[in-house]
Amino acid sequence: MVTENTTQSNPLAPPLDPDDWTAFRNEAHRLLDTCIDHLVDVRNRPWRPLSDADRAPLSLGDPTEGCGIEALVDELTCNVLPFSSGNTHPRFFGWVQGSGLASGLLSEMIVATMNSNCGGRDHGAVYVERAVIDWCRRCFGFPSQASGLLVSGTSQATVICLAAARLRALGTASRIDGIQHSRQLAAYAVDGVHNSTGKALELLGVGSSTLRRLPMGADGGIDVASLSRAIAEDRAAGLLPFCVVGTAGSVDLGYFDDLNALADLCAEENLWFHVDGAFGAWARLAQAPWCDLVQGIERADSLAFDFHKWMFVQYDCGVALIRDEKIHREAFAARPAYLAKQDQGLGGGEPWYCDYGTDLSRGFRALKVWSALRAYGSDALGRAITRNCEQAAQMAMLVETTPGLRLSSPVRLNVCCFSAAPREWEGSAQDSLNAKITSELQLSGDAVFSTTKLDGRTVIRAAITNHRTSEEDIIYAISAVARVRDREVGS
Ligand SMILES: Cc1ncc(COP(=O)(O)O)c(C=O)c1O
Repeated sequence: MVTENTTQSNPLAPPLDPDDWTAFRNEAHRLLDTCIDHLVDVRNRPWRPLSDADRAPLSLGDPTEGCGIEALVDELTCNVLPFSSGNTHPRFFGWVQGSGLASGLLSEMIVATMNSNCGGRDHGAVYVERAVIDWCRRCFGFPSQASGLLVSGTSQATVICLAAARLRALGTASRIDGIQHSRQLAAYAVDGVHNSTGKALELLGVGSSTLRRLPMGADGGIDVASLSRAIAEDRAAGLLPFCVVGTAGSVDLGYFDDLNALADLCAEENLWFHVDGAFGAWARLAQAPWCDLVQGIERADSLAFDFHKWMFVQYDCGVALIRDEKIHREAFAARPAYLAKQDQGLGGGEPWYCDYGTDLSRGFRALKVWSALRAYGSDALGRAITRNCEQAAQMAMLVETTPGLRLSSPVRLNVCCFSAAPREWEGSAQDSLNAKITSELQLSGDAVFSTTKLDGRTVIRAAITNHRTSEEDIIYAISAVARVRDREVGS
């Protein structure tokens, strides 16, 4: 039984804890109701821009004196909550952003209450993270000795995975000596590889110029013959090829490398095979034909992917999964005396996650994933992924049958790119029209698309990673594009 201290200004209350828990409870319930109301009504809450007046209360000004919990709840409700980026809305298809699950609202309360540090030690949150990593391992067909780490997202997961690849190529001494004495490393990926791979190579001191971007073959994946040639040429020139980055779901088009072919080549060439599966890895849970696209992912040496994109889990949560735990550990483990291993007690609980990455203090990201899997099950999440693939195909069909719109590239997964500009227009005029339609629909709240460049031209792009999207939303969004297009083009 919880005993509440309901006395106002209790002198014995720990500083910063409420001295009136009943009042706090009432405010917390009020805020929870507001959050649930928000989610119930999310269809009426698209992104909206912030005016100067909206932005002003976000400035902290002089925070010397606090406003108290009741005023805080009002501020959170009125000044913060209305201004989400709108990725919770059913017609949000911009960039690649997940929609967030109701289960996350609950799990985040537990996370805040426990305030766990998941860098290591023997406590419940660590076992939850282990359960999540273990499920990922099984889901992607990795061996039982594989290791993994939850991180902020695929960008960070790529750093972790490529650090392991670098260590495998250069040995453990490279942690101390750096890479200045080694031969120049070389990595390989398809031309449409996400820029996080280049950034990871920059951070690791390898440099992004060492990333060879190879042309796409006819199926949208890396041209394996060109890759083979590039590796041979680099070896002949004295470079040290160390890693091939396969893409499972390219950011612009949702295209896949032939992962089995890359795994075969890496085995022959003794190279580390990393897969960027930020969102596309989750095709693994979809029905055929989409799940077939990820065949071979289970052969990767490392895999980076997100829960916050196509598993709909709240931001942020990405995963680095590494086949060889020993290499993973050797790339990061470092335990000064004050973090020494204990055989029992809170300081036990080996292995510690701080030995698998750069962060010593780590939040409890795993719970929102664990809660989603417990509450809905992977089958239901897989069905939502399949439905998004079907909706991308539906969108492509609507584009092809709507006068004035044309598909820019075949839809393979959940990404649909198209143009609303007349072919006969000059290139820059086409670019401007597609960009204008995109921003106008964002501003009107009708739908959020984003843009990208394909063959040098700006196109409208939808990446559907949204469990709230209905087939009617797809129809509505494409009609909205056609409406603005017809007005602009005058037909
Ligand atoms: C294919 C791909 N890789 C990597 C990333 C980076 O992931 P994150 O935003 O989680 O760092 C993205 C982001 O959209 C992506 O689409």
